[in-house]
Amino acid sequence: MTNNYYDIAKEIERIAIIPVIALNNAKDAEPLAEALSNAGLPAAEVTFRTDAAVESISIITKKYPNILTGAGTVLTIDQVNKAMDAGAKFIVSPGLNPTVVDYCVDKNIPIFPGVNNPMGIEFALERGLDVLKFFPAEASGGIKMVEAMSAPYGKVKFMATGGIGLGNLTSYLNSKSIVACGGSWMVKSDLINDGKFSEIEKLCREAVEVVNNWRNK
Ligand code: 3PG
Repeated sequence: MTNNYYDIAKEIERIAIIPVIALNNAKDAEPLAEALSNAGLPAAEVTFRTDAAVESISIITKKYPNILTGAGTVLTIDQVNKAMDAGAKFIVSPGLNPTVVDYCVDKNIPIFPGVNNPMGIEFALERGLDVLKFFPAEASGGIKMVEAMSAPYGKVKFMATGGIGLGNLTSYLNSKSIVACGGSWMVKSDLINDGKFSEIEKLCREAVEVVNNWRNK
């Protein structure tokens, strides 16, 4: 894959946590980005689970260029194009959609497709992708599954999401096969909808602190 793909993967690894965000209203994008930025968590995976995704990506990428902003839950080529036009730096999908993956690879768009089995890994490897989303992480066997899959596919790295929180974060980060963990625990939709951005900032700070303590161990 291109340098761009690995540059983004490296950035994701440096930040270590990717907040998975569903914004119902694009007016929340700015205060949310401000909370992430204040907390020292400069990453956002804005999901296409809501209609406000495109506008929210556009607001965050314009006003907060320091935040590594990608699009999540991308299921179609049309969503890839909309996300990239809005300024997204990378694409994440819950599963490995051959049409979407081939389109992104062809256009040199960094994509991290979701896999949770050897078949998905081999499909991705054949297309030059070796940094993948492991989803849904906990329901698929968690860190044990990551380690088991890493035996034959030692070169593959995962961004694990699905069921991760402060309690199990470091158990994932400890694995050599994990580049980062994604999750919604610090950016819950309820908190966003209720405008509780200082609470979000606090949860993000807590997450960053866990990563810093883990790094300094
Ligand atoms: C994702 O799309 O990455 C997950 O839905 C996030 O999972 P979580 O809500 O369990 O953190």
